[in-house]
Amino acid sequence: MRTIAVLNQKGGVGKTCTAVNLGAALARQDRRVLLLDLDPQAHLTYSLGIMAHELPRTMGAVLMRECPLEAVTMEVGSLKVVPASVALAGTEVDLASATDRETRLRDALAQGQDYDFAIIDCPPNLGMLTLNAMVAAGELLVPVQPEFLALQSLGKLMETVKAIRKGWNPGLALSGILMTRYQRTRKLNREIRRKIKDYFGDALLETTIRDNISLAEAPSFGKDIFTYKPRSHGAADYRNLALELLRRGTP
Ligand SMILES: Nc1ncnc2c1ncn2[C@@H]1O[C@H](COP(=O)(O)OP(=O)(O)O)[C@@H](O)[C@H]1O
Ligand SMILES: [Mg+2]
Repeated sequence: MRTIAVLNQKGGVGKTCTAVNLGAALARQDRRVLLLDLDPQAHLTYSLGIMAHELPRTMGAVLMRECPLEAVTMEVGSLKVVPASVALAGTEVDLASATDRETRLRDALAQGQDYDFAIIDCPPNLGMLTLNAMVAAGELLVPVQPEFLALQSLGKLMETVKAIRKGWNPGLALSGILMTRYQRTRKLNREIRRKIKDYFGDALLETTIRDNISLAEAPSFGKDIFTYKPRSHGAADYRNLALELLRRGTP
């Protein structure tokens, strides 16, 4: 199983969009995919049309060891989903004083069913939930928007990754940095891409996700991009991302 955490402590860079649509693209390549929502905002959950507030138990219950992953896992088309809800914010507080607080997600995944891919959508910070993702994951996928401050937050993230490698997860790899909401006609976008390429080399994925209105619309219909607009740029780009990650193999 390849466990990929979609992570960037900045909000609004396309983490949730990437988790949903990469997952859907991989499922269309006949891979067994588990999506995990680790953000108390539950955007991934709502994006797939799941009414998080109506669920008795979600991701938080798993992290508090009240039930196994399977007990909260839902089927959405060809995807399996572990939903989140706002209760996860309380879980993060409760975890702070719990034993094995850093390995809760890793333990739950290890005891759970096997998939080809487990994709974790992280909250926009480097707190206890994100730490659980970095400990559980084999790989990080880091979406970045082509704007000036992107490089600064990438630097901070890479420092954190180094610390995690020294301690909890020596094998943590970078599956790649993914440019999202890219507009090739904008000089600033091209410049930022070149800077990231200079600094990160091959870690910058060849696939870029273009700015595409269909990607922004799809969540309001509770659909992934392939169900909502299969002929959009967004669908083409996320299909290419899935193919690139499959081609590259485990980093
Ligand atoms: N490539 C894209 N083109 C247009 N809109 C996008 C794209 N990627 C994400 N969005 C939109 O931008 C907003 C932030 O994306 P989201 O995936 O929620 O970011 P994050 O999870 O990092 O906070 C959402 O409204 C989303 O629908
Ligand atoms: Mg999000």
